[in-house]
Amino acid sequence: MPLTTPDRIEELLNATQAAFASGALVQLKLGGYHGSEPELKSVLVKKITTKAGDKYSFTWRYKTRDTIKNFAEPEALALLRDGLERDFRSAQLATTEFDMLFERNGEKMRLKRTVVAGREAPSTDHNRAKNRPLTETGKPWLRALGIVGKTGAVRHDAQDKFRQINKMVEIFAPLIAAIKAERPLIVDMGAGKGYLDFALYDYLATVAKRPVSLVGVEMRAPLVEDGNATARASGFDGLSFRTGSIMEFDASGADAVIALHACDTATDDAIFKGISAGASLIAVAPCCHKQIRRQMEAGEADARFEPLLRHGIFVERQAEMVTDTLRALLLELNGYKTRVFEFVSDAHTPKNNLIVAEKDGRAGRDRAAVLRQITDLKTMFGIEQHYLEDLLGL
Ligand SMILES: C[S@@+](CC[C@H](N)C(=O)[O-])C[C@H]1O[C@@H](n2cnc3c(N)ncnc32)[C@H](O)[C@@H]1O
Repeated sequence: MPLTTPDRIEELLNATQAAFASGALVQLKLGGYHGSEPELKSVLVKKITTKAGDKYSFTWRYKTRDTIKNFAEPEALALLRDGLERDFRSAQLATTEFDMLFERNGEKMRLKRTVVAGREAPSTDHNRAKNRPLTETGKPWLRALGIVGKTGAVRHDAQDKFRQINKMVEIFAPLIAAIKAERPLIVDMGAGKGYLDFALYDYLATVAKRPVSLVGVEMRAPLVEDGNATARASGFDGLSFRTGSIMEFDASGADAVIALHACDTATDDAIFKGISAGASLIAVAPCCHKQIRRQMEAGEADARFEPLLRHGIFVERQAEMVTDTLRALLLELNGYKTRVFEFVSDAHTPKNNLIVAEKDGRAGRDRAAVLRQITDLKTMFGIEQHYLEDLLGL
């Protein structure tokens, strides 16, 4: 009796799981995509070894970019099952001992197993390095920023930084890819040495082949001079740095405004510039939250919150949450769909929240309700005015 539909998928998943466990997994490739994601071509699944243990590493291959995400086994198998049942017509499992070819045509499914010999499993550590968006370490900018040493290898004390900038690229590349402009103008406010700018530009220009103009705005002139010299030496024509303050910079025409750890209210300056330019993406990782903290200390909070604000360390944390919640609400008020998430592990930095706001015609419809939430939140914490409100003329 022929196996039923779920049995075939089950058989393939069992074989994948066994190969993953025994170290025999080379890769699983899902093809024949007919789902709703534009430009998705295939999905590659491999085993990688991370600090948190062995994971299934998924690479979604789009026409002009890749997106990588790692999953623990239950999640990975659920994702694969879902994909095989709905959106992918074929899959090829390659192990060190056999190949399996899965094909689905409507309700009909076939699974063919072929024995192979002499194939070695790839090293999972090797895979980890390959899965990073930036794998080529011989770039002049990596040397100029001190990430790579004379030997061309990532320096021992820069491993963390290299991981972080790769993570940044993983987060920002899909956000930039979602921007409709043919050659988006991205402005990085408070660019510092430009780690993010070099990494992102390199990835977009050389891997994703997405033409962009990226401008880093930085008040410290020596950093700007170094950044421009390195951009020239790297042949990065679309990357440049400008000396000056965020507020003085003319950001009109910007499609994306980003700011990583721009100090205190410089984050608000960046958000304001993004909103004023009508940028389709605004992404900021706030740094310190002094402006609201001072107001919380000076003001009179709702008496019911007094215990929450009794201890200095918690005032600090509340100030951070309240400041960034108000920023998110003010972005919503201006038509942005806003998300807040951790973008690097807090082992690297406690300032690891990223506010990502994407312009969305539907957001900000209920202005009165959002304004009420802003007012209520300020009253609860004894806050007179958020600096961003001033900038926005509220
Ligand atoms: C903590 S650093 C972060 C640098 C970079 N974004 C990064 O994540 O590596 C903040 C940078 O923002 C710059 N900065 C702060 N306020 C600024 C302003 N209002 N205008 C321009 N640059 C500013 C500082 O000079 C500093 O280089």
